[in-house]
Amino acid sequence: MNRSQFIKNSLVAYPALLSFNFPTKLPKQPAIDIATNEEYWKMLRLQFPLQSSLIYLNNGTMGISPYSVIEAIYNKIISINTKGQYGGGDHETIEALAKFTGADKDEIAFTHNVTEGNNIIAQGLPLKKGDEVILTTHEHVGGALPWLNRAKNDGIILKAVNLGNTSDETLANIEKLINKKTKVIAVPHIPCTTGQVLPAKRIATLAKEKGIFSFFDGAHGAGMLNLDLHDIACDFYSSCCHKWMLGPKGTGFLYIKKEKLEFLKPLMVGAYSDSGWDMLSNPPTMNGYCGNAHRFYYGTQSAELYEGIQAAIKFHETIGKQNIEDRVKYLTEYFRENLKNLGSNIEIVTPEEAVSRAAVTGFRMKTITMQKFQEAASKENIIIRIVPENNVNVIRVSTHIYNQKSDIDKLLDIIKKNI
Ligand SMILES: Cc1ncc(COP(=O)(O)O)c(C=O)c1O
Repeated sequence: MNRSQFIKNSLVAYPALLSFNFPTKLPKQPAIDIATNEEYWKMLRLQFPLQSSLIYLNNGTMGISPYSVIEAIYNKIISINTKGQYGGGDHETIEALAKFTGADKDEIAFTHNVTEGNNIIAQGLPLKKGDEVILTTHEHVGGALPWLNRAKNDGIILKAVNLGNTSDETLANIEKLINKKTKVIAVPHIPCTTGQVLPAKRIATLAKEKGIFSFFDGAHGAGMLNLDLHDIACDFYSSCCHKWMLGPKGTGFLYIKKEKLEFLKPLMVGAYSDSGWDMLSNPPTMNGYCGNAHRFYYGTQSAELYEGIQAAIKFHETIGKQNIEDRVKYLTEYFRENLKNLGSNIEIVTPEEAVSRAAVTGFRMKTITMQKFQEAASKENIIIRIVPENNVNVIRVSTHIYNQKSDIDKLLDIIKKNI
């Protein structure tokens, strides 16, 4: 279906889509200083269906998909249901995801979200009673529960590390917790609380030196940072396509380093997880698992969501992964510098060190509760997240490429009114 047929059909069938305003082409990129060019990003925002009156600063919870992603999903649904096609798109999508994240295609398994990848690792690693796993005091529930569950079922011991103000300090804190019983470092790459960026490559190197597994809950890595998993060289990395990648909701992936595949026990298997099976032999047999990460996903998959993932990757690659990282960092820096000027009633919790931050800022206000501040922002059509988890108690602002400096200015105005 071409674009005009799509719009025509959509308007007839779904009146809610009437507000869609489809620009056909991405704006032309300026040759230099892309990150700071407000005009370019203002034009790019037209690629998103986000209501023009809304200032969305909660990308850490969920990313907004551009029209190209929505259109790709829609077209595939129509195609599947008019032609009676079953499945498809998975090989191309795995290849695209592998290229996007700096992995090999055999190392990527589809999941439905980050939590599913976290569970595959927490349940699948060869751990026994008394073995220790290092987590952080900043876990998302989806990062904590899979390990708490394994601890409950199998008696493994969890240790939560305090994050430092610098990457050196964080690394040192982790190292102090390592002993002979430590088997896994399982920490977020970028915790959901303050958005602090952990030194993933250095943590993976430390784990390798100590002969233990390294795993990152990378909910916020893919699409925020110009991610290169082979460069980080960790053993496992769980991420999703529905936050910073701006892809379909309910889609994710798990990276499993080739050399570590055999250590991980698959608990749920089905079509394509195997390397051959026979119900007619006596007893029935399964030869073994397939030779790549496909062993961890099975059964009917959503070909339309795969199309959406591919469209999201194409969108990022057309703009440029590094340009996106530079832009979100630029906006966050702008916010942070202005926050700093607002005096001692503001406490910025995300570390100052440049390598320890990217697109998220966590801060506290001494003059107003975070709940009241969220209400005040919401009255002005600004969406932010507050983080009561683990008693971190911060207001969290996360920026993406649909944000402009003027959005940050409006948020700053509300902060100023409340200090
Ligand atoms: C660090 C972290 N881990 C896990 C999750 C859970 O992600 P999902 O909903 O994709 O399972 C989130 C969600 O915000 C998160 O921030």
